[in-house]
Amino acid sequence: MKPTTLHLTLLLSISLLKGISANEKTPWLDEKFVNQKTVGLSKLESSNPAQWRVIWKTDPANKATVSWTTAMVGKNHLVHYDLKSRKGFPKNYTYKKVSDRNGRFSGSGGEHFHHARLAELKPSTTYWFVIESDGLFSPEMHFTTAPVNDRSFSVLFGGDSRSGHFARAQVNLLMAALSEENPEIIAFAHGGDYISSGKNWGQWSRWLSQHELTVAASGKVLPIIPTRGNHDGGPLFDEIFDSPGGKERENYFSTRLSSQVALVTLNTETKAGGAQRTWLGKTLQSLRPEVRWLLAEYHRPAWPAVKRPGAAQEFWVPLFEEFDVDLVVESDGHVIKRTVPIRNEKKDSTGVVYVGEGGLGVSQRKPDLSRWYLRSPGMATRGHHVMNIRFTPEKIDYKVVLLDRSIADQAIFRPRKK
Ligand SMILES: [Fe+2]
Repeated sequence: MKPTTLHLTLLLSISLLKGISANEKTPWLDEKFVNQKTVGLSKLESSNPAQWRVIWKTDPANKATVSWTTAMVGKNHLVHYDLKSRKGFPKNYTYKKVSDRNGRFSGSGGEHFHHARLAELKPSTTYWFVIESDGLFSPEMHFTTAPVNDRSFSVLFGGDSRSGHFARAQVNLLMAALSEENPEIIAFAHGGDYISSGKNWGQWSRWLSQHELTVAASGKVLPIIPTRGNHDGGPLFDEIFDSPGGKERENYFSTRLSSQVALVTLNTETKAGGAQRTWLGKTLQSLRPEVRWLLAEYHRPAWPAVKRPGAAQEFWVPLFEEFDVDLVVESDGHVIKRTVPIRNEKKDSTGVVYVGEGGLGVSQRKPDLSRWYLRSPGMATRGHHVMNIRFTPEKIDYKVVLLDRSIADQAIFRPRKK
């Protein structure tokens, strides 16, 4: 049948409609859009506050660190904040907090970090803030503290943003869109390998500026829970994230995300045994009876889809199994994977599931599908992605979202029987 004018018009209308709706939902698939957004990032010059981030460590219901960068040392660095929007007028905010820690980034050209540690915050509460350095101000932004009750909420997880700067910007824009659309998303846990060379300030600076793309149009910021990766060696990680875990370069800590959810962040870049293993055992032992959902996150996988197993397999996996951890998030492989439940090195319905392995911009690799723990009901594939993990009293909803918003993998986890 020859197409008629009506057919052609209809086809054109349908494809235009499809094009419009796809573009509206995923504008970051358009190169021009991403470039425009990247050009529009805050300038790192003089004492202009830029590269802002909110950091969560142990107690996100009551504490958050607001951090930023200035190109020069400056004198007066503070955060103005309040329980409601003051539309960016600094004098109208009820509270202020002078930066607690300032310093020159190692190996930088004079750029400085500033960390204002907010405390005595109310749980499940939205805080609005502007950052000030020597009379120059950020736009108004806001974040919501973690709950202390059992309400449902979501956290985005992902790792490996170290190269692929364009794709990194795209995933950041995807995260901002997900965060804007869904008030339940309250934080972003980064599984490490932010950049290629941990001692290179220029690479960190680019990552920090691009992190601004994760801020939603409304000004909603996702507090970051940082994990150190094997590419993140050197002092800059602690300077950027205000030494999560307390001691320089140790960087292991637990984050109480609600009355029933705890996330234990481990550091694969320091000794997995010894003090860290002892700490992990004590931490899991005390958290397990308190929470319904107990998670762990670290960089180098115990059950990799690409490389050889890291020290986590020997030192941490027995503890995850002893204390029935509900879900473990790994990075480093540059693929998407979900293992079968594992106990005693074999598939076991009472075992622990490991997901990951990093796709926040870095080129993707080919998973080794012959590994027993990746076979059905496990899976592995590739693609830039972010994981959206939702916690409710009944289940954990796990979804892997690709750049085009399609779902590469999903699973439901039920509470363990006591
Ligand atoms: Fe890595």
